[in-house]
Parts: sequence; structure tokens; C-alpha cells
Amino acid sequence: MKCLIRIAIVALLCTNYCLGDTCSSESCPSESKTNRYSKDANTKYAKYYAAIEKAEANYIECNSSGCKCFADVMSRDLDVFSKRRIDQTLIQSAKSRGTLYQIINGQLYRQKDCMFPSRCAGIEYFLTRVITNTTNLELVINTRDYPQSGKHFGEPLPIFSFSKTPDYNDIMYPAWAFWAGGPAISLYPNGLGRWDTHRVTLDDARQKFSWDEKKDVAFFRGSRTSSERDNLVLLSRAKPELVEAQYTKNQAWKSEKDTLNMPPVKEVALEKHCEYKYLFNYRGVAASFRHKHLFLCGSLVFHVGDEWKEFYYDALKPWIHYIPVQPNASPKELENLIRFAQDNDAIAKRIAERGRDFIFEKLTLEDVMCYWRRLIRRYAKLVDYKPTMAKDMILIKKSKSTH
Ligand SMILES: *[C@@H]1O[C@H](CO)[C@@H](O)[C@H](O)[C@H]1NC(C)=O
Ligand SMILES: *[C@@H]1O[C@H](CO)[C@@H](O)[C@H](O)[C@H]1NC(C)=O
Repeated sequence: MKCLIRIAIVALLCTNYCLGDTCSSESCPSESKTNRYSKDANTKYAKYYAAIEKAEANYIECNSSGCKCFADVMSRDLDVFSKRRIDQTLIQSAKSRGTLYQIINGQLYRQKDCMFPSRCAGIEYFLTRVITNTTNLELVINTRDYPQSGKHFGEPLPIFSFSKTPDYNDIMYPAWAFWAGGPAISLYPNGLGRWDTHRVTLDDARQKFSWDEKKDVAFFRGSRTSSERDNLVLLSRAKPELVEAQYTKNQAWKSEKDTLNMPPVKEVALEKHCEYKYLFNYRGVAASFRHKHLFLCGSLVFHVGDEWKEFYYDALKPWIHYIPVQPNASPKELENLIRFAQDNDAIAKRIAERGRDFIFEKLTLEDVMCYWRRLIRRYAKLVDYKPTMAKDMILIKKSKSTH
């Protein structure tokens, strides 16, 4: 009986390590460090090597001039309105799901109430700078996290949202948090924003914690906005030398149940994330604002799930710029992926550098401005009516802050 159990355990361990057919049960490798680079270790990682090889063979670097790296996303979002053009009826239906903006004679107006004033300020920073030559126009901009125009319910509504899944017809716009209005945690009491200055401070942190100086550990810090994050936190509790992942409090926190039965820990500044080689990005309620920042550390980003997106996500390719992770990955699968990166340092560094270079070079504040400008211009071509000034609108002036 004891013997049978032992065989079963060995077989279990072996299926874990032997993906190909070259492996016999006697050659089941141990987990010792010396064995990691053996032939068996190569077999164990075969599917990852194959995925990287395929991705690199198919990858063509995009030309970022005129924010063209993101052009496909804009076309896809707007395509549905090239047939069902945007008229007053559609806008009327969309109005209740967002904030109404009007562009009249080159000036920007907004309905008096904005649900999240700092988010509106983040949006208006860009809008006031791109509308110089725009014809009179109405826009419904959703400032909530969640998209509003479901594909499986009613007709497509032209609502601008910062993030969505393929199940929505919302038109993606660059999030307010590129300028202002991001999550207001204790570290960023005015809300995360100012992508231009974060790029500088994160680049300093990248230089301070160069690849070889980083801790060979995976890192995550955030609140439990989605239970998808649990398995990494559980792995961290079991193997703290491999993963440092813990939950922080958010406004909804009531008891330790909300931090997976452990006390919440303190938030960690984005720049401090750069101390770690492997950084996990999970969705929250929608796409996470953390995402673009993590790349700038020059650390390897493990991006979980591919449903929730912002406008720039599709330009980043799995295995080229980041390690893709299934949203339901078990602690064991997460461990395998992290160990793969640890055991293949040159590959890990290569992917980290490509991810960092892409975000640093092709997602500047100017690229964001460019996306807004093109988006408004192309949207305007799909609109079939000229609005007149609605009631109770307020004039929004260009803010003084420059960059
Ligand atoms: C990118 O596109 C611009 C404009 O079309 C062109 O002038 C430039 O040479 C291109 N750059 C590269 C690296 O291909
Ligand atoms: C606005 O339009 C005018 C006339 O068509 C043009 O000369 C000018 O360059 C445009 N300005 C911008 C900022 O696009």
C-alpha cells in the first residue's frame, strides 16, 4: 500500500515535469537548483520556449509615429458606428450612462454635475487641448470604472469608457489617470495621475534597481477588488521566498475577510515595486491603473487575463512584452511560471526590456494626446447632426498646468 502511494506521488510529480515523451519515471528530476538546467528542466519548460519562439517569429514592431501603434483599436471601436451612424436619438439614449460634453465653436462645455470631479478634470486636460478645430459635437463620456454599452443588450451606444472587455461596444479613451483622478490611496492622496512625472520617477527607480540588483522574487500589492488575485496571495503565504503578495485595504474593507483572513498591509509606492524582478498585474473592477507603471521598472510583468483592456493593451504582445497568465491559474501553475523566469534569466530580462522600451518610447503623454486628437476627429466623421448648446452646461477652460 505504502509502495502504491509512493508510485502515485512519483507519477504525479513526473507529469508535472515531463511534458514531452523523452522522460521516463526513473529520470524524474528533483527540484534541486543544480538540476534546473538539465535536459529534464528543458522539457518541463518546453511549452514556454515554444510560445516565446512563436511570438518572436510573428512579432513586427509597430511604428509609433502618429500614435499608429494603437490605430487598430480605434478602428475596431468605431467600426460599429460607420454603419449605424451617430444621430441625436443614439446620443439621447446614451446620455444617462455618462457625462455629457459639448464642443461648440471650439469651446468645451460640460453638464454641471460630474460624478467624479477629478476624473472629469483628468479627461478635460486632454479634451481642451485637442478640440481646437473640431466641428460642433456632443460626446457622452463614462467616468465610472465599468463600461456601459453591452453587446448583448440593445443597440450599440456611442459611450466613451476607459476600459472594457470584448463584450462591450464602448469606445475606449485614454484613462483620466494619465493626468489626474486615479485611485486616491494613502500614497497618492490626490489620486494617481501625472503619467509624465511618474515616467521620470519610475525611470529613476529602474536605474537604481537594475536587473541584477533586483530581488529574485515575484511581487504584488493591492486590495482585493477581484478574487482572481487570491491564488498568488495564497502562494505567497506558502512560499514567501518565492512571492511577496499581500492585500491592502480599500474603502470597502470591513474585516479581515476582505483581505483573505489576514490583516491588511500597507500600500507600496510604485517606485518601490522596481526592487523586484517579477511584477504581477491583475485586473481590478476593470483594467488596473497599475499596469502601465509596472513596465517602467524594467521588471518582468506577469499580466493576468486578457479580457479587460485599455486602448493601448493590444499593442503589447504576450511573451514579447510580458508573461501571460491565465486568470484561473492555480498556485502551482503560478509557481511554475515564476520558476521558469528564475531559471531562464536571459529570456526574462529580454522580455522585461522589450516591455519597458515599448511603454517608455511609445506610450508617452504626447502619444496619449495624439490618440485623443485622432479619436475626436474620427468620431466627428461618424456624427450626422450638429448640436445646439444644451441647458445648464458650464464652460470648461484649459487648465494652466503644462507639461
Ligand atoms: C515611421 O513612420 C513615419 C511616418 O510615416 C516615417 O517618417 C518614419 O520613417 C517611420 N519610422 C520607421 C522606423 O519606420
Ligand atoms: C485648424 O484649421 C485651420 C484651417 O483649416 C488650419 O490652418 C490650422 O492649422 C488648424 N489647426 C490645428 C491645430 O489643427
